[in-house]
Amino acid sequence: MDYRFASRIGNLQPSPTVAVSDRVRELKQQGLDVIDLGGGDPDFPTPEHICKAASDALFAGDTHYVASSGIPELRQGIARKLKDDNDVEVDVNGIIVTPGGKSALISSLLALAGPGDDVLTFDPGWVSYEPMATISGANTIHVSLNSADNYRITRDAIDKHVTPNTRLMIVNSPNNPSGKVLTQDEVDAICAAAKEHDIIVFSDEIYEKIVYDDNKHISIAAQPDMAERTLTHNGFSKAYAMTGWRLGYVAGPVEIIKQIMKIHSHSVTCATSFAQRGAVAALDGPQHFIGEMVQAWDRRRKLIVDGLNQIPGFHCPWPEGAFYAYPDVSGTGKNGSEIAEIAINDARVGVTPGIAFGDASANHIRLSFANSDELLEESINRLQTAFS
Ligand SMILES: Cc1ncc(COP(=O)(O)O)c(C=O)c1O
Repeated sequence: MDYRFASRIGNLQPSPTVAVSDRVRELKQQGLDVIDLGGGDPDFPTPEHICKAASDALFAGDTHYVASSGIPELRQGIARKLKDDNDVEVDVNGIIVTPGGKSALISSLLALAGPGDDVLTFDPGWVSYEPMATISGANTIHVSLNSADNYRITRDAIDKHVTPNTRLMIVNSPNNPSGKVLTQDEVDAICAAAKEHDIIVFSDEIYEKIVYDDNKHISIAAQPDMAERTLTHNGFSKAYAMTGWRLGYVAGPVEIIKQIMKIHSHSVTCATSFAQRGAVAALDGPQHFIGEMVQAWDRRRKLIVDGLNQIPGFHCPWPEGAFYAYPDVSGTGKNGSEIAEIAINDARVGVTPGIAFGDASANHIRLSFANSDELLEESINRLQTAFS
């Protein structure tokens, strides 16, 4: 059968991070002992009180459609959280609960960008921004940031890439893959550029709770005059170790959210009813375990950065946030893709080649340290043996 596909499928590729995990799974099925440092999944279980709230709801018969934008208790909880944690004021009608942060991002993109529009993204950047923009029909413009300058975002870099068609700018801090946390100066540059060029900002804050040392997360929507042009994207996957629950949200001006609701209600109807009860418990319940997870990741950050820096030709800076190490491996004489191949074939460690995060990252690889100390120590031993 000669199948024909929509033109938007064109050059789209499956997610490269999912591809690494698939490859690891395949090798494991062949009986090989492979470690997967390719994914972005907290290695902690979802806290019990969250599971219990969802399971109670499930057994109480909360198994039907709920309000498309999300149950009121959860939207109220998110509005409260945004106010308390982020200094962002949002009307409960300016919030949509979605099946994962991914769903919030693509529904927002589909509502705001289309053919003829430019979407500005920063490299290195998350693997799904460009494919999502492509699906919407929009064009992606990449602003390449320099690793030697700690991936600093400047007004000048933004201005050079803005076109008359630039509708959106996607900002992600703490950043996946580099771990970079935006400073107030950088946030000011982003906000000034957005206002001057009349651009809507998508602020992807999914790693907001995972910051190390003195770094502080800053929300774009809390900046002067930015609430009216910012959509805050966040979710429960990383902070509450709830990746499999598929719960995220977008929050912003009611007028924009109303339009995104059209895409959301026609495509997913609503996020899972009883899972939303778990998310209410997540926001209302104790938060101390987030600090405990971050403490563990901070310890593992040291373990992996020290270990990688002992490999000849690897240079690994300290990630400021999130849970990825992002070394430059050009000192080996090989690029990130070649190193990733050797890592999986010889060291039996799955890592993501930097090219997945933009052309400027061809010399990098990404390793997730959201894994146990034992697995990370074993991974470092294997990589040191393979590359020494
Ligand atoms: C930067 C970034 N944004 C958004 C997401 C989406 O997360 P989820 O769909 O699990 O909420 C991820 C997941 O890895 C991510 O790394």
